Amino acid sequence: AQNDRQAFQRINDLTVEYYRSVLEHSPAGAVARKYLEKRTATGEIAAAYQLGYASDRSDGLVQHLKANGADLEKALKLGIIRKSDRGWYDLFRSRLMFPICDPKGNTIAFAGRVLDASLPKYINSPESPLYHKSSVLFGINMALPAIRSENSVIIVEGYFDHLALFRAGIRNVVATCGTALTASHAALLKRHAAKVFTLFDSDTAGRKATIRSMELFLEQRLPAYVITLPAGDDPDSFLASNTVEDFRSRQTKARPAFDFFVRSLLAATPADSVDNKVRVIDELAPRFRKIADPVERDLYEKEICRLMAIAPHAFRKRLGGMDLTAR
Ligand code: CTP
Ligand code: MN
Ligand code: MN
Ligand code: MN
Ligand code: MN
Repeated sequence: AQNDRQAFQRINDLTVEYYRSVLEHSPAGAVARKYLEKRTATGEIAAAYQLGYASDRSDGLVQHLKANGADLEKALKLGIIRKSDRGWYDLFRSRLMFPICDPKGNTIAFAGRVLDASLPKYINSPESPLYHKSSVLFGINMALPAIRSENSVIIVEGYFDHLALFRAGIRNVVATCGTALTASHAALLKRHAAKVFTLFDSDTAGRKATIRSMELFLEQRLPAYVITLPAGDDPDSFLASNTVEDFRSRQTKARPAFDFFVRSLLAATPADSVDNKVRVIDELAPRFRKIADPVERDLYEKEICRLMAIAPHAFRKRLGGMDLTAR
């Protein structure tokens, strides 16, 4: 099994090397070099993250692996090449390549972005013996020292969001890479930081992800704060037109995730009728129950009752006569 792991690892390393050389040196890579310039991810950043380019050639990677004596059946298991009646071919074509690393910096998977507006915008290598996406966070290998020294971590959605913050000197940042945050992500982060900030895109999907992740952090008892951006922005686009200080000031104003949740619920369903109030309470209840700390519970209960103009005893009854001292 150890030999297998080494063989898989070597295939990924050869793959990184291949896509890097296409990006850096080949005429086919010019379009990707230009793209990276446009997104200001050139030079050091591209090198540090080992960014690459998969050209439109159908078997470039296959040939590189073959030439280096790699076992193609193993590469097939990693999902980076495929097999048809006509032979072996590459999974990634005409895409900017992001190696996805484990905390030690070993490449365990890849993501590829198109350079134009075609869809899907990103594809990822599939689950494999090296890659279990529910527990992987992009950029963790780069971010760990800063996560530990600051004892906090910022979670973003996208590869370029991570790069933009990192380049701006904000280094305790990881990205979820397309999957929703999972309990094992939250557990992993809890091992390294005392506090998390979510910084998801300022759109409907981002707000949903914010609230879903809040539940996981409540379950892990990991204090979570929400950094918000202007509507339509993501961290990368925000930093393209604002300064790091602008970002820091938003981070300073980050609100506790539960507070953010209550306020977005009330913004969506104003507590202006009995029906609406009951609906809001029923939405709140399952999450409220996850607040472990009795002091926090008490304070949130007061806040909710104040915002909705309801009596605490009614709130508790509606929650199902829950015992506020037990979990
Ligand atoms: N994602 C994915 N597959 C897609 C779309 C998105 O895996 N088809 C993942 C990627 O990790 C992406 C993240 O979800 O970075 C966030 O998606 P989105 O906000 O749509 O993309 P951006 O990261 O903003 O992409 P870009 O800035 O490159 O346009
Ligand atoms: Mn798995
Ligand atoms: Mn998004
Ligand atoms: Mn985005
Ligand atoms: Mn973006």
